[in-house]
Order: sequence, then C-alpha cells, then structure tokens
Amino acid sequence: MRQLIRGRTLSFHADPNDTDDAYSYHEDGAIILDGGKIAAIGDYAALRAPDLPETDHRPHLIMPGFIDTHLHFPQVQVIASWGAQLLDWLNTYTFPEEARFADQGHAPAMAEKFLDLLLAHGTTTAVAFCSVHPQSAEALFSAAHARNMAMVAGKVMMDRNAPEAVLDTPQRGYDDSKRLIETWHGKGRQNYAITPRFAITSTPEQMEMTGQLVREYPDCHIQTHLSENRDEIAFTLSLYPQARDYLDIYESYGLLSDKLLLGHSIHLEEREIARMAETGSRAVFCPTSNLFLGSGLFDEAGLRAAGVTCGIATDIGGGTSYSMLQTLNEGYKILQLRGQKLHPYAAFHWVTRGNAIALGMQDRIGTLDVGTDADLVVLDSRATPAMALRMARAETLAEELFILQIMGDDRAIAQTYVAGQAMLD
Ligand code: GUN
Ligand code: ZN
Repeated sequence: MRQLIRGRTLSFHADPNDTDDAYSYHEDGAIILDGGKIAAIGDYAALRAPDLPETDHRPHLIMPGFIDTHLHFPQVQVIASWGAQLLDWLNTYTFPEEARFADQGHAPAMAEKFLDLLLAHGTTTAVAFCSVHPQSAEALFSAAHARNMAMVAGKVMMDRNAPEAVLDTPQRGYDDSKRLIETWHGKGRQNYAITPRFAITSTPEQMEMTGQLVREYPDCHIQTHLSENRDEIAFTLSLYPQARDYLDIYESYGLLSDKLLLGHSIHLEEREIARMAETGSRAVFCPTSNLFLGSGLFDEAGLRAAGVTCGIATDIGGGTSYSMLQTLNEGYKILQLRGQKLHPYAAFHWVTRGNAIALGMQDRIGTLDVGTDADLVVLDSRATPAMALRMARAETLAEELFILQIMGDDRAIAQTYVAGQAMLD
C-alpha cells in the first residue's frame, strides 16, 4: 500500500565525526512508503497528493529505525541479575537460563516477547546470539520472518566450560549451523551470523569447524566476544597458550574480515587494534553491559583514529536496557570518563547509519534514502513531563537529540515501522 507519513524527518548521509554536512532534515517533511520501501522523501508540500492516505506524526521526529548490533535473545530473563562480573555472571545466571531454551515451546514464546520489546524500543534490526539449541534460532527467525523484520542471528556454538545442557560438539555445532544457514540465510529479510560464543567455550576443534563454515558461507556475518573483562582474557590466553593475544585466536582460524562483529573489544593490545583495522573487523561497544558487569571503558576515539569501524549495542542481558537511546546515554558517560565526547549527531548517526555500516547493510537500512527498506522510528521528545519541561528550553535540533539521548527510552517511541507497516498500537 502506498501511504504518506508526515513529520519532521532526519536522516544521515555521512558520519558527523567527519563532516558538518552529515544529515538531511525536513521541518515539515514527509515520506512516501510503498511496498515496504521508501518511495520518496522531502517537504510535505511537495509530496502530498490527493488520493494518498496520510498519517500525521507532527510534531514528532521520524528517523530510520534503530539497529542493535549485539544482544542475546535467550537472556530476556537474565537482565538485571545481581552482583557478578562476567565469568561468574555467565556461570551463575546465564548458562542455566539459556538451558531452558531446550524446553518445548519456550523459545517460540520468548521470541515473540523479544521482538515486541525491540519494536517498543524503536529497534527494527538486531544482531542476536541465540542459545546453543538450534530451535532457539529457528524460533527467532520464524518470528522475525513473520513480522518482516531484518534480523541477523545465529545459534551459539559452545563445546566446553559450561554445563552439559548448553553444550554442543564440534560436529553438532557445525551441522546445526549449516542447516540453519541453508534454511534461513537470505530468506526474506533474515541473515545468519556464524556464532562461536567466545574462545573460552570453544575447543580448538570447534574453532576449526567454525573456520570451515566461514569459508563455506563467506557472506554470513560472524559474531563473537573479545576482551571484555581482565579475568576472561587471562583464562582465554591460558586455553590458547600459543596465541599472541586474544584476537590472534580468532585470526588463526580465519575469522577476521569485515563480516566479523567483536562484542566489547575493550582491553585491546596495539597489535589487535591494528589487525582489526587492516581486516575491517568490527568492534561493538556495549555501554550498559560494560558498566553493569564492571567490565571497563571502551576507547571509541582511539579505535576510530586507528581506522576500526565500531558498532554500538545493548548486549541484553548483560546490558540493562533494550533502548538504544539509553545505550547512547550510558555510552556518553563512558566516553566522558575517557575524556571523549559523543555529540548527539554522532550518537544518532551511530544507532542508525553507523550500525548499518558496521553490518555492511547501509544500502538497505539505517537511512531514509529512497529505495531502502521503510524501517522507521517516530520519536517523541516530550514523552515525559521531565522531557517536556527540558524541551521548553531547547532551541536547536542538536539539543533536542541530546535530550532524547539522555532522557529518552521506550516512552519516547511514538511509533515503529517495519517494512512500511506500523507495528505499535
Ligand atoms: N561472553 C561470552 N558470552 C557472553 C554473554 O552472554 N554476555 C556477555 N556480556 N559476554 C559474554
Ligand atoms: Zn554478548
């Protein structure tokens, strides 16, 4: 159905860190949606047409839907688990909870709730770790496919250092991943991410099989974790004593490329940063998780200066909010502690076009460019009394965006569109 939506539109065509000419904004703007795509964008006066159905979102701000480049689907009931850092948190809370995804019916029920939450928070594409059980990925892909949501996901491969209930074997991990790739990769808007959880939970034999999958399916993403926590790094290096550093483990199995998403990437060596830049491997900043688990402070400016492309993500359930706005809020504070600045233009670029670039999907999502998928978020900058009071003193678009970034959450999401369909009541 061809339809027009009206509101203030904002989309980035360049990185605000690189240029002042980074965005397009229409104060009385409109977007024409047709067949799940953006057919036109511009001033309302120029786009209105007599028979075109209209939805008026004024005075709200229409942006590309948010993209979350790292989170864990089977951790929807792990979020807010008290008192532990990474390895204890995994063993105490996370692995037992992920074991429940073996149960009949659990994964499909959780998948619907997970997608409802993403949409309520304005997130239209997510890159998700599933549990070790292939049915968890099956459930997530099925539910996302039914909603026409662009999902990148994969079942975790893990064959040691965790309870039996969440382990596969090198062969099973390979076979199950392969079957899921054959079924789901490229079906509608679904994309598969080959998902070795991290080096601690994969034997060298499993890493070998992971490299095999990557060679067989070079257009799949690969997602894992890197250098999140000091104890994790020490344990990892003890398991792979021949490795020069943590990244070298992934490197030695042929995993490094611009398809690789490395969650956390906090405590990095110079060599690792250089290799990430050379190979195009992505670092993914997970601010609420890094603070919650006490992991450390991501070096955004350092990585950017070195030429590493960075995504930003919630990391549910180590992360504490589904909101990319709250993720930017905590990200801003982490960078403050490092003496770095996250400007609101850079922030909103990051959760839209920036994350799309991190995924290599910027020709389809992350902007309001004509021909791209009509995944949109409608933002209400006066969603709460406190926001409305603060907005009364805001004079610029940058100020408004910063208020959304610092004070906004799901209450600021007035509507979310997926492939041209309004998803919220
Ligand atoms: N490293 C390996 N698995 C996980 C996980 O589930 N969450 C986080 N934050 N780090 C991990
Ligand atoms: Zn993670």
